Amino acid sequence: MSIIHQIIAPVKQEMIEFETKFRDSMHSDAAMLDKVTHYIIKRKGKQVRPLFVFLCAKMLGEVTPKTYDAATLIELLHTATLVHDDVVDDANERRGYFSINALWKNKIAVLVGDYMLSKILLLSIYKKNPDLLEIIARSVKDMSEGELLQIEKARLLDINETIYFEIIRKKTASLIASCCESAALSSGNNENQEKMRLFGEYIGIAFQIKDDIFDYGKPGKIGKPTGIDIRERKLTLPIIFTLNNSTKEVRRELINIIKNKNELSKSINRAIILVKENGGIEYSHEQMLIYSIKALEIIKDFPENEAKKSLKLLVDYTINREI
Ligand code: IPE
Ligand code: IPE
Ligand code: MG
Ligand code: MG
Repeated sequence: MSIIHQIIAPVKQEMIEFETKFRDSMHSDAAMLDKVTHYIIKRKGKQVRPLFVFLCAKMLGEVTPKTYDAATLIELLHTATLVHDDVVDDANERRGYFSINALWKNKIAVLVGDYMLSKILLLSIYKKNPDLLEIIARSVKDMSEGELLQIEKARLLDINETIYFEIIRKKTASLIASCCESAALSSGNNENQEKMRLFGEYIGIAFQIKDDIFDYGKPGKIGKPTGIDIRERKLTLPIIFTLNNSTKEVRRELINIIKNKNELSKSINRAIILVKENGGIEYSHEQMLIYSIKALEIIKDFPENEAKKSLKLLVDYTINREI
């Protein structure tokens, strides 16, 4: 059995039901919206966030209707942020296909993302689930702050490791933290809510470090562009480490590329080589491992069951995945 099948096994039925609920949550009578959301649904992602929701809930107790609400609303929020993120990053590929902004331009992508956010608000009211809305609203706030801080640092290039971790904790880890926190809440396990939130936060940090390492890899493998972080002057862990731990010459060359030649693919490739040669990827890999171990440490005393086994495999998948 493939690793992903093994992970899904304890919540297979739940994931099938989730698909339907997710599809319905995006439905619109407006023709334009329906066309775009249809395109989005057909190209689904890895769905790791709903998996975290269901597996955490099952590890702690049982999956309830509120668990489905959490999985659906969080995947909806994730999808909306990707649509917006590709506008912000000027990225033309997502999940192996053209991004929404590449096909329909920025205006439509911004409005479709907003439409999805409005669906989240409405659904949480219809479902009478204010606690879930609070958790989700908090991560919308964190994600916006994280993305804005990232833009500010790309302009001034005054980033360091501490700020990098703050950015990724906000823009990525906050949502995975919400998955695990809302799962605890939905299974009636309020006493473990904070522990689960932290578990998700550590995984989310590892998840984004992995994503940032991908950007230094070969194009054509992960279904989205590579090398675009340097193009956007987005200084992530591999390059931050290299800037702080290399000779003056290397540092000068890298800064020159980021500031003056970040549009040239030849220069971007040169920067990637410098980062690799100076241990930037290795160091990021180590940090990613540290965070995944911190996450596993949190759940080590929870009772052993099938869901917990899968959850541990999902943590492994987060750091070993190839896409
Ligand atoms: C991409 O998330 C955005 C990041 C936080 C790095 P995923 O890698 O989970 O995207 P999909 O949903 O599988 O496409
Ligand atoms: C994560 O950052 C984006 C969000 C949290 C929305 P990236 O910009 O690195 O994500 P990808 O690589 O485009 O998926
Ligand atoms: Mg992006
Ligand atoms: Mg990325």
